[in-house]
Amino acid sequence: MAQITDSAGAPNFLNRTLWIDDNLKVLSGINSECVDLSYLDPPFNSKRIYHAPLGSKAAGASFADTWTLDGVKTDWADLQEVADPAVYHTVVGAGLSAGESMQAYLTFMAPRLLELHRVLKPTGSLYLHCDPTASHYLKQLMDCIFGRTNFRNEIVWSYSGGGVPRGAFARKHDIILFYARSKDTPFNILRRPYGEHNKTGRRATDRGGTRKLDYHPDGAHMTAVWGDIKPLVNWSSERTGWPTQKPLALLRRIIEASSNPGDVVLDPFAGCGTACIAAEQLNRQWVGIDIDTKATEVTMDRLARECGDNTYTIGDYEPRQGKLALADGDNRVFVNQNPPVRTDPDRPTRSPRIRTIRWHELGTGERRPCPGCDRPKYFDDFDLDHIQPRAKGGLDTDDNLQLLCSSCNRIKGQRFTMTELRQRLQTEYLRERTNT
Ligand SMILES: C[S@@+](CC[C@H](N)C(=O)[O-])C[C@H]1O[C@@H](n2cnc3c(N)ncnc32)[C@H](O)[C@@H]1O
Repeated sequence: MAQITDSAGAPNFLNRTLWIDDNLKVLSGINSECVDLSYLDPPFNSKRIYHAPLGSKAAGASFADTWTLDGVKTDWADLQEVADPAVYHTVVGAGLSAGESMQAYLTFMAPRLLELHRVLKPTGSLYLHCDPTASHYLKQLMDCIFGRTNFRNEIVWSYSGGGVPRGAFARKHDIILFYARSKDTPFNILRRPYGEHNKTGRRATDRGGTRKLDYHPDGAHMTAVWGDIKPLVNWSSERTGWPTQKPLALLRRIIEASSNPGDVVLDPFAGCGTACIAAEQLNRQWVGIDIDTKATEVTMDRLARECGDNTYTIGDYEPRQGKLALADGDNRVFVNQNPPVRTDPDRPTRSPRIRTIRWHELGTGERRPCPGCDRPKYFDDFDLDHIQPRAKGGLDTDDNLQLLCSSCNRIKGQRFTMTELRQRLQTEYLRERTNT
């Protein structure tokens, strides 16, 4: 079937698409330069495993924030393939100064940040939510990928409440790194009323996201230290129980500052969909990705509760045809378990990540069956092989590349097709059986 080609910058997804998959696979399939704003709240390298409390709407959701080099083997292979020396040395350097876990964490983050940079429009913005555990390493990585001159702000989200952490000065803040894709990236300056106080004489805060914060055209230019947005507490009405859920007010602020109605917002670590819900409330289009299947149910529940009187339904997945926007009154959400296929004119004929894409296709588990001999093999045991040998006219394109274990690859070499390889393996197997 002939592949569709869209014009440059056209998205290959519909508004309100939620992908349940590894975000690297999904991002690799998204067209270049079609997203206006990305917010991401990845694991922070906290060395913890998070579980949603039993009985909460998110019960069953969990994610691990522990990192080893062994656990990121395929991401490491991606990093080598992408071959960006600055990125590579930043990751390795972080390993030297902060140890293996930090190197593994950045190995996971680097290919995802490279993809996010690619999918942003030249006028796009990215907000990376992290904390001081890794913010300085992530900033260096972002400088390599976005360029140092495109750094806009280090936002400090300062909050109170909860326990008092140990340490010299108690840490009560997160860091949000804000980068523009280029000097042409627009920004809506947000202003708060001068000396805004509530009746008790205290400065007005968001109270855990229950009240919408207003911005005022003649007020004071907001600074990068945000102390007026409370973290969610157990009794906050918007709390779902999703581990590390962020307040809607935080996301609304980011979306209002760096996008306009109709723009496309992408959250690749969507969790319980906070960025998606805020985007919906502010009439932006959105796409979310999360690896946890529970994300669909919780996001659908929040859409019903927090996005006005609309009735949202799950629609069958459809590839985008023509416009990205849905018609007025079309409140479908497209939940998709398959990564998208790029349709933009600059899609490569050979993906830099083809090795890991093919690895994922071989199934799950530490060892996966070799397409030649069927024996289970580790990732490192496989070579990338041209299905139709190059000597016989095979092209160096994704559809002609597969993984084969090294011993099958040696036998197949430049001479055999897959059918010939299997015949040969069968003959050898029969010969061995006869001899024993
Ligand atoms: C810190 S939480 C995000 C919380 C979110 N901001 C919210 O308010 O609900 C990180 C999320 O990343 C998801 N995640 C971790 N690794 C992922 C991956 N490789 N691809 C997609 N999602 C992933 C986890 O399932 C988790 O929901």
